[in-house]
Amino acid sequence: MEANLDDAKILSPRRNTTQAASIEELAREQLQHFAIDAASEHGQLLLATAEELYRAQGNLSQLWAQTAATLNQLDRSDRVAYFNAKRFMSFQLAKLLDSLQNPLRASFQSLQGNDFNISTRGGYPLFDNIPAIFSATPVIARTATYIYACTEWIDDAFRGREPSHDIYSRLLNPTSISLANAIVDLECGPEANQYMAWNFNSGMAAIDALLSNQLSHGDLLIVSRHVYGGVHQLLQDFYARQDKLAIQLIWFDGTSGDEFEQLLKKAQDEHAKAIKGGARIHVYIESPCNPHGTMLDVPAICRAAHRENLLVSLDATLATPFLYKPLRREDRAERPDFVVHSYTKDIGGTGAATAGVVIGENHRMFIPKGDSANGLNWNQCLFWDVYYIKGAFLDADKAWEVHCGMRTLEMRMLTKCINTLCLSHFFASHPQIRVNCHALESHPNSELRKALLRYQFPTPLFTIDMEAAQLPTEAFKRFFDALEPAFGQMVSLGQTNTMVLCPALTSHSELSPEAMEAADIFPTTIRISVGDENMAQLAAHVISSARLHLDPVCPGFSDSFMSAEDADAVFARFYLKSHKKVVEAFPRVADYL
Ligand SMILES: Cc1ncc(COP(=O)(O)O)c(C=O)c1O
Repeated sequence: MEANLDDAKILSPRRNTTQAASIEELAREQLQHFAIDAASEHGQLLLATAEELYRAQGNLSQLWAQTAATLNQLDRSDRVAYFNAKRFMSFQLAKLLDSLQNPLRASFQSLQGNDFNISTRGGYPLFDNIPAIFSATPVIARTATYIYACTEWIDDAFRGREPSHDIYSRLLNPTSISLANAIVDLECGPEANQYMAWNFNSGMAAIDALLSNQLSHGDLLIVSRHVYGGVHQLLQDFYARQDKLAIQLIWFDGTSGDEFEQLLKKAQDEHAKAIKGGARIHVYIESPCNPHGTMLDVPAICRAAHRENLLVSLDATLATPFLYKPLRREDRAERPDFVVHSYTKDIGGTGAATAGVVIGENHRMFIPKGDSANGLNWNQCLFWDVYYIKGAFLDADKAWEVHCGMRTLEMRMLTKCINTLCLSHFFASHPQIRVNCHALESHPNSELRKALLRYQFPTPLFTIDMEAAQLPTEAFKRFFDALEPAFGQMVSLGQTNTMVLCPALTSHSELSPEAMEAADIFPTTIRISVGDENMAQLAAHVISSARLHLDPVCPGFSDSFMSAEDADAVFARFYLKSHKKVVEAFPRVADYL
Protein backbone atom coordinates (compact mmCIF):
# COMPACT_ATOMS: atom_id res chain seq x y z
CA MET A 1 0.00 0.00 0.00
CA GLU A 2 1.57 3.34 -1.05
CA ALA A 3 1.41 5.97 1.66
CA ASN A 4 -0.75 8.96 0.92
CA LEU A 5 1.43 11.88 -0.18
CA ASP A 6 -0.65 14.46 1.66
CA ASP A 7 -0.33 12.51 4.90
CA ALA A 8 3.44 12.21 4.39
CA LYS A 9 3.98 15.92 3.71
CA ILE A 10 3.52 16.82 7.36
CA LEU A 11 7.00 15.41 7.94
CA SER A 12 8.69 17.72 5.44
CA PRO A 13 10.71 20.81 6.43
CA ARG A 14 8.72 22.40 3.59
CA ARG A 15 5.38 20.93 4.65
CA ASN A 16 3.48 24.11 3.73
CA THR A 17 5.36 25.10 0.55
CA THR A 18 6.43 21.79 -0.97
CA GLN A 19 6.16 21.21 -4.71
CA ALA A 20 6.83 17.46 -4.40
CA ALA A 21 4.57 15.14 -6.34
CA SER A 22 5.85 11.89 -4.80
CA ILE A 23 7.42 10.53 -1.66
CA GLU A 24 10.76 10.35 -3.41
CA GLU A 25 10.54 14.02 -4.35
CA LEU A 26 9.67 14.88 -0.78
CA ALA A 27 12.86 13.16 0.36
CA ARG A 28 14.96 14.92 -2.32
CA GLU A 29 13.48 18.27 -1.37
CA GLN A 30 14.42 17.59 2.25
CA LEU A 31 18.03 16.94 1.31
CA GLN A 32 18.11 20.14 -0.74
CA HIS A 33 16.71 22.05 2.23
CA PHE A 34 19.78 21.05 4.24
CA ALA A 35 22.20 21.41 1.28
CA ILE A 36 22.98 17.71 1.06
CA ASP A 37 24.10 16.22 -2.24
CA ALA A 38 21.75 13.29 -2.79
CA ALA A 39 24.30 11.59 -5.02
CA SER A 40 26.99 11.45 -2.30
CA GLU A 41 27.40 8.31 -0.22
CA HIS A 42 26.08 10.07 2.87
CA GLY A 43 23.31 11.66 0.80
CA GLN A 44 22.10 8.33 -0.57
CA LEU A 45 21.71 6.91 2.90
CA LEU A 46 19.93 10.02 4.14
CA LEU A 47 17.66 9.97 1.08
CA ALA A 48 16.72 6.33 1.54
CA THR A 49 16.04 6.87 5.26
CA ALA A 50 13.97 10.00 4.63
CA GLU A 51 11.83 8.12 2.09
CA GLU A 52 11.14 5.38 4.62
CA LEU A 53 10.21 7.98 7.23
CA TYR A 54 7.75 9.69 4.87
CA ARG A 55 6.18 6.32 4.09
CA ALA A 56 5.94 5.50 7.80
CA GLN A 57 4.27 8.86 8.49
CA GLY A 58 1.78 8.23 5.69
CA ASN A 59 1.03 4.76 7.03
CA LEU A 60 0.61 6.01 10.59
CA SER A 61 -1.89 8.63 9.45
CA GLN A 62 -3.90 5.90 7.78
CA LEU A 63 -3.58 3.77 10.90
CA TRP A 64 -5.06 6.62 12.94
CA ALA A 65 -7.99 7.04 10.54
CA GLN A 66 -8.65 3.31 10.54
CA THR A 67 -8.36 3.05 14.33
CA ALA A 68 -10.84 5.88 14.81
CA ALA A 69 -13.29 4.28 12.39
CA THR A 70 -13.12 0.67 13.56
CA LEU A 71 -12.04 0.55 17.21
CA ASN A 72 -15.55 0.46 18.62
CA GLN A 73 -16.43 -2.58 16.54
CA LEU A 74 -13.53 -4.70 17.77
CA ASP A 75 -13.87 -7.08 20.67
CA ARG A 76 -11.74 -6.52 23.72
CA SER A 77 -9.06 -9.11 22.96
CA ASP A 78 -8.44 -7.55 19.55
CA ARG A 79 -8.21 -4.13 21.18
CA VAL A 80 -5.65 -5.50 23.65
CA ALA A 81 -3.66 -6.99 20.78
CA TYR A 82 -3.77 -3.76 18.75
CA PHE A 83 -2.77 -1.74 21.79
CA ASN A 84 0.31 -3.86 22.37
CA ALA A 85 1.26 -3.92 18.70
CA LYS A 86 1.15 -0.10 18.59
CA ARG A 87 2.86 0.20 21.93
CA PHE A 88 5.73 -1.92 20.65
CA MET A 89 6.01 0.31 17.59
CA SER A 90 6.48 3.31 19.88
CA PHE A 91 9.56 1.56 21.24
CA GLN A 92 10.75 0.81 17.72
CA LEU A 93 10.38 4.44 16.72
CA ALA A 94 12.22 5.53 19.84
CA LYS A 95 14.90 3.00 19.02
CA LEU A 96 15.24 4.55 15.56
CA LEU A 97 15.70 7.91 17.21
CA ASP A 98 18.22 6.38 19.57
CA SER A 99 20.11 4.84 16.65
CA LEU A 100 20.14 8.24 14.96
CA GLN A 101 21.73 9.78 18.04
CA ASN A 102 25.13 8.20 17.38
CA PRO A 103 25.79 9.81 13.98
CA LEU A 104 24.04 13.00 15.12
CA ARG A 105 26.10 13.25 18.32
CA ALA A 106 29.32 12.59 16.39
CA SER A 107 28.48 15.45 14.01
CA PHE A 108 27.74 17.71 16.96
CA GLN A 109 30.95 16.84 18.79
CA SER A 110 33.00 17.37 15.65
CA LEU A 111 31.83 20.98 15.56
CA GLN A 112 33.16 21.87 18.98
CA GLY A 113 36.38 23.88 18.96
CA ASN A 114 38.72 24.30 21.89
CA ASP A 115 36.62 27.11 23.29
CA PHE A 116 33.83 24.63 23.80
CA ASN A 117 30.57 26.53 24.18
CA ILE A 118 28.87 23.76 26.15
CA SER A 119 29.00 25.82 29.32
CA THR A 120 26.80 28.54 27.83
CA ARG A 121 24.52 26.51 25.61
CA GLY A 122 24.46 23.38 27.77
CA GLY A 123 24.66 19.89 26.29
CA TYR A 124 22.38 18.83 23.46
CA PRO A 125 19.47 17.39 25.48
CA LEU A 126 17.86 15.77 22.45
CA PHE A 127 20.42 12.99 22.77
CA ASP A 128 19.72 12.08 26.35
CA ASN A 129 16.00 12.71 26.52
CA ILE A 130 15.06 9.70 24.42
CA PRO A 131 15.03 7.08 27.22
CA ALA A 132 12.95 9.55 29.25
CA ILE A 133 10.05 8.60 26.97
CA PHE A 134 10.03 5.33 28.89
CA SER A 135 10.02 6.89 32.34
CA ALA A 136 7.26 5.20 34.36
CA THR A 137 6.06 8.51 35.77
CA PRO A 138 5.65 11.64 33.67
CA VAL A 139 8.96 13.33 33.02
CA ILE A 140 9.40 16.70 34.71
CA ALA A 141 10.13 18.89 31.70
CA ARG A 142 11.59 21.77 33.63
CA THR A 143 12.46 24.09 30.80
CA ALA A 144 11.30 27.46 29.56
CA THR A 145 12.09 26.75 25.91
CA TYR A 146 12.18 23.94 23.38
CA ILE A 147 14.35 23.01 20.40
CA TYR A 148 12.59 23.47 17.05
CA ALA A 149 12.79 21.38 13.90
CA CYS A 150 12.62 24.09 11.22
CA THR A 151 10.91 27.37 10.32
CA GLU A 152 7.73 25.94 8.83
CA TRP A 153 7.19 23.67 11.82
CA ILE A 154 7.67 26.58 14.22
CA ASP A 155 5.21 28.64 12.22
CA ASP A 156 2.70 25.80 12.59
CA ALA A 157 3.48 25.54 16.30
CA PHE A 158 2.60 29.21 16.78
CA ARG A 159 -0.72 28.58 15.09
CA GLY A 160 -1.46 25.56 17.28
CA ARG A 161 -0.94 23.08 14.43
CA GLU A 162 2.14 21.20 15.59
CA PRO A 163 1.52 19.24 18.79
CA SER A 164 5.08 17.86 18.88
CA HIS A 165 6.43 21.39 19.32
CA ASP A 166 5.85 23.15 22.60
CA ILE A 167 6.85 26.76 22.18
CA TYR A 168 7.43 28.02 25.67
CA SER A 169 6.50 26.42 28.99
CA ARG A 170 4.15 29.24 29.94
CA LEU A 171 2.05 28.13 26.99
CA LEU A 172 2.54 24.38 26.80
CA ASN A 173 4.62 21.96 28.77
CA PRO A 174 4.74 18.16 28.36
CA THR A 175 4.42 17.41 32.09
CA SER A 176 1.39 19.65 32.36
CA ILE A 177 -0.11 18.07 29.21
CA SER A 178 0.44 14.62 30.76
CA LEU A 179 -1.57 15.67 33.79
CA ALA A 180 -4.26 17.28 31.63
CA ASN A 181 -4.63 14.05 29.66
CA ALA A 182 -4.77 12.01 32.87
CA ILE A 183 -7.53 14.10 34.45
CA VAL A 184 -9.57 13.96 31.23
CA ASP A 185 -9.19 10.16 31.12
CA LEU A 186 -10.30 9.96 34.74
CA GLU A 187 -13.29 12.27 34.29
CA CYS A 188 -14.49 11.14 30.89
CA GLY A 189 -13.39 7.49 30.50
CA PRO A 190 -14.30 6.11 27.07
CA GLU A 191 -15.34 9.58 25.84
CA ALA A 192 -12.05 11.18 26.85
CA ASN A 193 -11.19 12.00 23.23
CA GLN A 194 -14.08 14.50 23.14
CA TYR A 195 -12.74 16.54 26.07
CA MET A 196 -9.62 18.53 26.89
CA ALA A 197 -8.20 20.19 29.98
CA TRP A 198 -5.98 23.16 30.74
CA ASN A 199 -4.10 23.26 34.03
CA PHE A 200 -3.60 26.40 36.08
CA ASN A 201 -1.40 27.33 39.01
CA SER A 202 -4.32 27.29 41.46
CA GLY A 203 -8.00 26.41 41.58
CA MET A 204 -8.78 30.13 41.69
CA ALA A 205 -6.66 30.78 38.59
CA ALA A 206 -8.64 28.05 36.79
CA ILE A 207 -11.96 29.56 37.88
CA ASP A 208 -10.84 33.08 36.96
CA ALA A 209 -9.70 31.87 33.53
CA LEU A 210 -13.01 30.16 32.90
CA LEU A 211 -15.06 33.16 34.02
CA SER A 212 -13.01 35.56 31.97
CA ASN A 213 -13.46 33.32 28.93
CA GLN A 214 -17.20 33.09 29.44
CA LEU A 215 -18.27 36.52 30.67
CA SER A 216 -18.57 39.75 28.73
CA HIS A 217 -19.30 43.19 30.11
CA GLY A 218 -22.82 43.46 31.54
CA ASP A 219 -23.61 39.70 31.39
CA LEU A 220 -25.67 37.93 34.05
CA LEU A 221 -24.29 35.11 36.16
CA ILE A 222 -26.44 32.69 38.14
CA VAL A 223 -24.24 31.43 40.99
CA SER A 224 -25.01 28.78 43.58
CA ARG A 225 -25.07 30.48 46.98
CA HIS A 226 -22.55 28.30 48.81
CA VAL A 227 -19.52 28.76 46.61
CA TYR A 228 -16.03 28.73 48.07
CA GLY A 229 -15.30 32.08 49.80
CA GLY A 230 -12.53 32.96 47.34
CA VAL A 231 -14.99 32.64 44.44
CA HIS A 232 -17.50 34.81 46.27
CA GLN A 233 -14.80 37.44 46.64
CA LEU A 234 -13.66 37.16 43.02
CA LEU A 235 -17.22 37.64 41.81
CA GLN A 236 -18.19 40.46 44.18
CA ASP A 237 -14.93 42.35 44.27
CA PHE A 238 -13.94 42.01 40.64
CA TYR A 239 -16.41 40.72 38.08
CA ALA A 240 -19.46 42.51 39.53
CA ARG A 241 -17.71 45.86 39.89
CA GLN A 242 -19.10 48.55 37.60
CA ASP A 243 -15.58 49.66 36.66
CA LYS A 244 -14.65 46.07 35.76
CA LEU A 245 -17.07 43.70 33.97
CA ALA A 246 -20.27 44.89 35.72
CA ILE A 247 -21.57 41.33 35.92
CA GLN A 248 -25.01 41.05 37.47
CA LEU A 249 -24.83 38.27 40.08
CA ILE A 250 -27.97 36.23 40.71
CA TRP A 251 -27.63 33.95 43.70
CA PHE A 252 -29.22 30.50 43.57
CA ASP A 253 -30.22 29.25 47.03
CA GLY A 254 -31.84 25.95 46.14
CA THR A 255 -30.58 22.52 45.16
CA SER A 256 -33.22 21.17 42.75
CA GLY A 257 -33.82 21.59 39.02
CA ASP A 258 -37.28 23.06 39.69
CA GLU A 259 -35.90 25.73 42.02
CA PHE A 260 -33.27 26.55 39.43
CA GLU A 261 -35.83 26.80 36.66
CA GLN A 262 -37.96 29.19 38.72
CA LEU A 263 -34.97 31.39 39.44
CA LEU A 264 -33.97 31.36 35.79
CA LYS A 265 -37.46 32.41 34.64
CA LYS A 266 -37.48 35.19 37.23
CA ALA A 267 -34.04 36.36 36.10
CA GLN A 268 -35.12 36.30 32.46
CA ASP A 269 -38.16 38.44 33.31
CA GLU A 270 -36.36 40.87 35.58
CA HIS A 271 -33.47 41.38 33.19
CA ALA A 272 -35.43 41.20 29.94
CA LYS A 273 -34.18 44.61 28.84
CA ALA A 274 -30.50 43.78 29.42
CA ILE A 275 -30.94 40.42 27.68
CA LYS A 276 -32.58 42.12 24.71
CA GLY A 277 -29.61 44.49 24.65
CA GLY A 278 -27.23 41.53 24.27
CA ALA A 279 -26.46 40.49 27.86
CA ARG A 280 -26.16 36.71 28.18
CA ILE A 281 -26.94 34.53 31.16
CA HIS A 282 -24.29 32.05 32.41
CA VAL A 283 -24.46 29.50 35.19
CA TYR A 284 -21.71 28.80 37.73
CA ILE A 285 -22.35 26.19 40.40
CA GLU A 286 -20.32 24.42 43.05
CA SER A 287 -21.49 20.93 43.95
CA PRO A 288 -20.96 19.48 46.47
CA CYS A 289 -20.57 22.89 48.00
CA ASN A 290 -18.81 24.65 50.83
CA PRO A 291 -19.05 24.50 53.77
CA HIS A 292 -21.71 21.81 54.36
CA GLY A 293 -20.85 19.44 51.49
CA THR A 294 -24.36 19.83 50.08
CA MET A 295 -25.07 18.32 46.67
CA LEU A 296 -27.03 20.18 43.99
CA ASP A 297 -29.10 18.32 41.42
CA VAL A 298 -26.51 18.99 38.74
CA PRO A 299 -28.13 16.90 35.95
CA ALA A 300 -31.49 18.65 36.41
CA ILE A 301 -29.88 22.10 36.59
CA CYS A 302 -27.89 21.37 33.42
CA ARG A 303 -31.04 20.16 31.62
CA ALA A 304 -32.91 23.33 32.57
CA ALA A 305 -29.99 25.59 31.60
CA HIS A 306 -29.40 23.81 28.30
CA ARG A 307 -33.07 24.10 27.34
CA GLU A 308 -32.39 27.86 27.34
CA ASN A 309 -29.02 27.43 25.57
CA LEU A 310 -27.07 28.53 28.64
CA LEU A 311 -23.65 27.13 29.47
CA VAL A 312 -23.03 25.59 32.89
CA SER A 313 -19.69 25.64 34.74
CA LEU A 314 -19.38 23.25 37.67
CA ASP A 315 -16.78 23.31 40.43
CA ALA A 316 -16.68 19.62 41.39
CA THR A 317 -13.60 19.89 43.63
CA LEU A 318 -15.17 18.45 46.76
CA ALA A 319 -16.49 15.27 45.17
CA THR A 320 -13.45 14.53 42.98
CA PRO A 321 -13.95 12.04 40.15
CA PHE A 322 -13.94 9.28 42.78
CA LEU A 323 -17.42 10.25 43.97
CA TYR A 324 -18.87 12.01 40.97
CA LYS A 325 -18.20 12.01 37.23
CA PRO A 326 -20.61 14.56 35.77
CA LEU A 327 -19.14 14.34 32.26
CA ARG A 328 -20.03 10.66 32.02
CA ARG A 329 -23.81 11.24 32.10
CA GLU A 330 -25.31 9.41 29.17
CA ASP A 331 -27.65 12.29 28.33
CA ARG A 332 -25.34 15.08 27.19
CA ALA A 333 -27.92 17.70 28.21
CA GLU A 334 -27.26 16.62 31.81
CA ARG A 335 -23.53 17.26 31.57
CA PRO A 336 -22.04 20.61 32.60
CA ASP A 337 -20.14 22.35 29.82
CA PHE A 338 -17.10 22.93 31.99
CA VAL A 339 -15.83 21.13 35.08
CA VAL A 340 -13.35 22.81 37.40
CA HIS A 341 -11.21 21.21 40.09
CA SER A 342 -8.86 22.69 42.61
CA TYR A 343 -6.11 20.04 42.40
CA THR A 344 -4.83 21.53 45.66
CA LYS A 345 -7.43 19.46 47.45
CA ASP A 346 -8.07 15.72 47.21
CA ILE A 347 -6.81 15.16 43.69
CA GLY A 348 -3.29 16.25 44.63
CA GLY A 349 -3.99 14.90 48.10
CA THR A 350 -1.10 16.16 50.19
CA GLY A 351 -1.79 19.88 50.20
CA ALA A 352 1.79 20.47 49.10
CA ALA A 353 0.95 22.01 45.71
CA THR A 354 -1.64 24.61 44.73
CA ALA A 355 -3.05 23.88 41.29
CA GLY A 356 -6.30 23.76 39.34
CA VAL A 357 -7.88 22.64 36.09
CA VAL A 358 -10.72 23.41 33.67
CA ILE A 359 -12.13 20.55 31.58
CA GLY A 360 -14.43 21.08 28.62
CA GLU A 361 -15.39 19.80 25.19
CA ASN A 362 -12.52 19.96 22.68
CA HIS A 363 -13.83 22.91 20.68
CA ARG A 364 -14.39 25.06 23.77
CA MET A 365 -10.84 24.38 24.93
CA PHE A 366 -8.76 24.50 21.76
CA ILE A 367 -9.18 25.31 18.07
CA PRO A 368 -6.14 25.74 15.77
CA LYS A 369 -5.50 29.39 14.90
CA GLY A 370 -7.67 30.59 12.03
CA ASP A 371 -10.15 27.69 12.22
CA SER A 372 -13.62 27.48 13.70
CA ALA A 373 -15.55 24.56 15.16
CA ASN A 374 -19.19 24.06 16.23
CA GLY A 375 -19.93 27.76 15.77
CA LEU A 376 -16.92 28.94 17.79
CA ASN A 377 -14.04 30.91 16.32
CA TRP A 378 -10.51 29.90 17.28
CA ASN A 379 -10.03 33.10 19.29
CA GLN A 380 -13.07 32.33 21.48
CA CYS A 381 -11.79 29.02 22.87
CA LEU A 382 -10.27 28.95 26.33
CA PHE A 383 -6.72 28.42 25.07
CA TRP A 384 -6.29 31.44 22.80
CA ASP A 385 -8.77 33.71 24.56
CA VAL A 386 -7.30 33.32 28.04
CA TYR A 387 -4.73 30.63 28.73
CA TYR A 388 -2.27 31.73 26.03
CA ILE A 389 -2.40 35.35 27.10
CA LYS A 390 -2.68 35.40 30.87
CA GLY A 391 0.18 33.23 32.08
CA ALA A 392 -1.43 31.42 35.02
CA PHE A 393 0.01 28.12 33.78
CA LEU A 394 0.88 25.15 35.99
CA ASP A 395 4.61 24.52 36.06
CA ALA A 396 6.12 21.10 35.45
CA ASP A 397 7.13 20.39 39.05
CA LYS A 398 3.65 20.95 40.44
CA ALA A 399 2.01 19.15 37.52
CA TRP A 400 4.19 16.14 38.29
CA GLU A 401 3.32 16.27 41.97
CA VAL A 402 -0.42 16.44 41.32
CA HIS A 403 -0.14 13.63 38.79
CA CYS A 404 1.63 11.39 41.30
CA GLY A 405 -0.94 12.28 43.98
CA MET A 406 -3.80 11.35 41.65
CA ARG A 407 -2.65 7.75 41.60
CA THR A 408 -3.81 7.19 45.16
CA LEU A 409 -7.06 9.17 44.86
CA GLU A 410 -9.33 6.11 44.95
CA MET A 411 -7.80 4.68 48.13
CA ARG A 412 -7.73 7.99 49.94
CA MET A 413 -11.26 8.96 49.03
CA LEU A 414 -12.69 5.58 49.93
CA THR A 415 -11.29 5.87 53.45
CA LYS A 416 -12.40 9.48 53.76
CA CYS A 417 -15.95 8.76 52.72
CA ILE A 418 -16.23 5.93 55.26
CA ASN A 419 -14.65 8.16 57.90
CA THR A 420 -17.28 10.80 57.10
CA LEU A 421 -20.00 8.28 57.89
CA CYS A 422 -18.24 7.45 61.18
CA LEU A 423 -17.52 10.97 62.33
CA SER A 424 -20.86 12.49 61.35
CA HIS A 425 -22.73 9.76 63.23
CA PHE A 426 -20.46 10.14 66.23
CA PHE A 427 -21.22 13.87 66.46
CA ALA A 428 -24.90 13.29 65.72
CA SER A 429 -25.14 11.06 68.79
CA HIS A 430 -24.80 14.18 70.96
CA PRO A 431 -28.16 15.82 71.61
CA GLN A 432 -26.68 19.33 71.68
CA ILE A 433 -24.70 19.04 68.45
CA ARG A 434 -26.44 19.67 65.16
CA VAL A 435 -24.76 17.90 62.25
CA ASN A 436 -25.22 19.38 58.80
CA CYS A 437 -24.08 16.43 56.70
CA HIS A 438 -25.83 14.47 53.99
CA ALA A 439 -24.29 11.26 55.35
CA LEU A 440 -27.17 11.21 57.82
CA GLU A 441 -30.29 9.53 56.41
CA SER A 442 -32.45 12.22 58.02
CA HIS A 443 -30.61 15.05 56.24
CA PRO A 444 -32.65 16.75 53.49
CA ASN A 445 -29.74 16.44 51.08
CA SER A 446 -29.30 12.71 51.57
CA GLU A 447 -31.61 11.85 48.63
CA LEU A 448 -29.37 13.74 46.20
CA ARG A 449 -26.33 12.04 47.71
CA LYS A 450 -27.95 8.68 47.02
CA ALA A 451 -29.00 9.65 43.52
CA LEU A 452 -25.73 11.14 42.37
CA LEU A 453 -22.68 10.04 44.34
CA ARG A 454 -20.81 6.80 43.76
CA TYR A 455 -21.70 4.02 46.22
CA GLN A 456 -24.02 6.66 47.71
CA PHE A 457 -21.06 7.75 49.82
CA PRO A 458 -21.08 11.21 51.42
CA THR A 459 -18.82 14.14 50.55
CA PRO A 460 -15.96 14.26 53.08
CA LEU A 461 -16.82 17.80 54.16
CA PHE A 462 -19.54 18.78 56.61
CA THR A 463 -20.34 21.12 59.46
CA ILE A 464 -21.51 20.81 63.03
CA ASP A 465 -22.72 23.47 65.41
CA MET A 466 -23.28 23.59 69.17
CA GLU A 467 -25.87 26.35 69.35
CA ALA A 468 -28.23 24.16 71.35
CA ALA A 469 -25.72 24.01 74.24
CA GLN A 470 -25.67 27.84 74.51
CA LEU A 471 -21.97 27.76 75.30
CA PRO A 472 -20.17 30.91 76.41
CA THR A 473 -18.06 32.11 73.45
CA GLU A 474 -14.81 31.82 75.44
CA ALA A 475 -15.48 28.18 76.35
CA PHE A 476 -16.28 27.33 72.73
CA LYS A 477 -13.08 29.01 71.56
CA ARG A 478 -11.03 27.08 74.13
CA PHE A 479 -12.67 23.83 73.05
CA PHE A 480 -12.03 24.62 69.38
CA ASP A 481 -8.40 25.56 70.02
CA ALA A 482 -7.88 22.28 71.89
CA LEU A 483 -8.83 20.19 68.86
CA GLU A 484 -5.18 20.12 67.74
CA PRO A 485 -3.25 17.88 67.29
CA ALA A 486 -5.82 15.22 66.37
CA PHE A 487 -7.58 17.71 64.09
CA GLY A 488 -5.54 20.11 61.97
CA GLN A 489 -6.36 23.78 62.47
CA MET A 490 -5.98 24.75 58.83
CA VAL A 491 -8.00 26.67 56.31
CA SER A 492 -7.82 24.26 53.42
CA LEU A 493 -9.66 20.99 52.83
CA GLY A 494 -9.12 17.73 51.02
CA GLN A 495 -5.80 16.69 52.53
CA THR A 496 -4.89 13.37 54.10
CA ASN A 497 -5.41 14.77 57.61
CA THR A 498 -8.70 15.85 59.14
CA MET A 499 -8.95 19.64 59.35
CA VAL A 500 -11.30 21.98 61.13
CA LEU A 501 -12.09 25.63 60.80
CA CYS A 502 -14.63 27.90 62.36
CA PRO A 503 -16.30 29.82 59.48
CA ALA A 504 -17.79 32.51 61.76
CA LEU A 505 -14.32 33.35 63.06
CA THR A 506 -12.49 33.00 59.74
CA SER A 507 -13.81 32.50 56.20
CA HIS A 508 -17.26 34.00 56.80
CA SER A 509 -16.38 36.53 59.49
CA GLU A 510 -17.30 39.47 57.27
CA LEU A 511 -20.90 38.35 56.77
CA SER A 512 -23.64 40.00 58.80
CA PRO A 513 -25.35 37.77 61.43
CA GLU A 514 -28.42 37.52 59.14
CA ALA A 515 -26.31 36.59 56.11
CA MET A 516 -24.50 34.00 58.22
CA GLU A 517 -27.75 32.48 59.37
CA ALA A 518 -29.01 32.40 55.78
CA ALA A 519 -25.85 30.43 54.94
CA ASP A 520 -26.57 28.07 57.87
CA ILE A 521 -23.49 29.28 59.71
CA PHE A 522 -23.56 30.07 63.42
CA PRO A 523 -20.93 31.29 65.91
CA THR A 524 -20.25 27.68 66.95
CA THR A 525 -20.27 26.17 63.47
CA ILE A 526 -17.20 24.04 62.80
CA ARG A 527 -16.39 22.90 59.27
CA ILE A 528 -14.73 19.50 59.19
CA SER A 529 -12.74 18.26 56.21
CA VAL A 530 -12.42 14.56 56.90
CA GLY A 531 -9.08 12.81 56.45
CA ASP A 532 -7.73 9.28 56.30
CA GLU A 533 -6.92 8.80 60.00
CA ASN A 534 -8.31 6.30 62.45
CA MET A 535 -11.57 7.87 63.61
CA ALA A 536 -11.33 6.32 67.09
CA GLN A 537 -8.47 8.66 67.91
CA LEU A 538 -10.40 11.68 66.68
CA ALA A 539 -13.54 10.77 68.61
CA ALA A 540 -11.51 10.25 71.79
CA HIS A 541 -9.84 13.62 71.30
CA VAL A 542 -13.22 15.35 70.96
CA ILE A 543 -14.40 13.75 74.21
CA SER A 544 -11.19 14.72 76.06
CA SER A 545 -11.34 18.33 74.80
CA ALA A 546 -15.00 18.55 75.81
CA ARG A 547 -14.11 17.24 79.30
CA LEU A 548 -11.46 19.93 79.66
CA HIS A 549 -13.27 22.94 78.24
CA LEU A 550 -17.02 22.34 77.99
CA ASP A 551 -17.92 20.27 81.04
CA PRO A 552 -16.99 23.13 83.44
CA VAL A 553 -19.58 25.42 81.79
CA CYS A 554 -22.01 22.79 80.61
CA PRO A 555 -21.88 19.90 83.11
CA GLY A 556 -22.10 16.44 81.59
CA PHE A 557 -21.49 17.66 78.02
CA SER A 558 -18.76 15.09 77.35
CA ASP A 559 -20.90 12.22 78.68
CA SER A 560 -23.62 12.80 76.12
CA PHE A 561 -21.71 11.40 73.14
CA MET A 562 -22.31 7.76 72.29
CA SER A 563 -20.24 5.53 74.55
CA ALA A 564 -16.71 4.56 73.55
CA GLU A 565 -17.85 0.95 72.96
CA ASP A 566 -20.76 2.07 70.82
CA ALA A 567 -18.48 4.34 68.80
CA ASP A 568 -16.12 1.42 68.12
CA ALA A 569 -19.06 -0.72 67.04
CA VAL A 570 -20.52 1.99 64.80
CA PHE A 571 -17.15 2.64 63.14
CA ALA A 572 -16.59 -1.06 62.54
CA ARG A 573 -20.09 -1.40 61.11
CA PHE A 574 -19.59 1.48 58.66
CA TYR A 575 -16.22 0.10 57.54
CA LEU A 576 -17.62 -3.39 56.95
CA LYS A 577 -20.81 -2.21 55.29
CA SER A 578 -19.03 0.25 53.02
CA HIS A 579 -16.37 -2.20 51.91
CA LYS A 580 -19.08 -4.77 51.25
CA LYS A 581 -20.89 -2.21 49.11
CA VAL A 582 -17.70 -1.49 47.17
CA VAL A 583 -16.98 -5.18 46.66
CA GLU A 584 -20.53 -5.83 45.50
CA ALA A 585 -20.24 -2.99 42.98
CA PHE A 586 -16.90 -4.25 41.63
CA PRO A 587 -16.99 -4.93 37.91
CA ARG A 588 -16.76 -8.68 37.26
CA VAL A 589 -14.06 -10.39 35.22
CA ALA A 590 -16.73 -11.24 32.64
CA ASP A 591 -17.45 -7.52 32.18
CA TYR A 592 -13.96 -7.15 30.75
CA LEU A 593 -14.00 -10.15 28.45
C1 LIG B 1 -14.52 24.13 46.23
C2 LIG B 1 -13.30 24.95 46.00
N1 LIG B 1 -13.06 25.43 44.77
C3 LIG B 1 -11.96 26.17 44.50
C4 LIG B 1 -11.05 26.48 45.49
C5 LIG B 1 -9.86 27.30 45.15
O1 LIG B 1 -8.75 26.49 44.92
P1 LIG B 1 -7.23 26.96 45.19
O2 LIG B 1 -7.07 27.12 46.65
O3 LIG B 1 -6.44 25.83 44.58
O4 LIG B 1 -7.03 28.23 44.45
C6 LIG B 1 -11.25 26.01 46.78
C7 LIG B 1 -10.28 26.32 47.86
O5 LIG B 1 -10.48 26.04 49.00
C8 LIG B 1 -12.41 25.22 47.05
O6 LIG B 1 -12.68 24.76 48.27
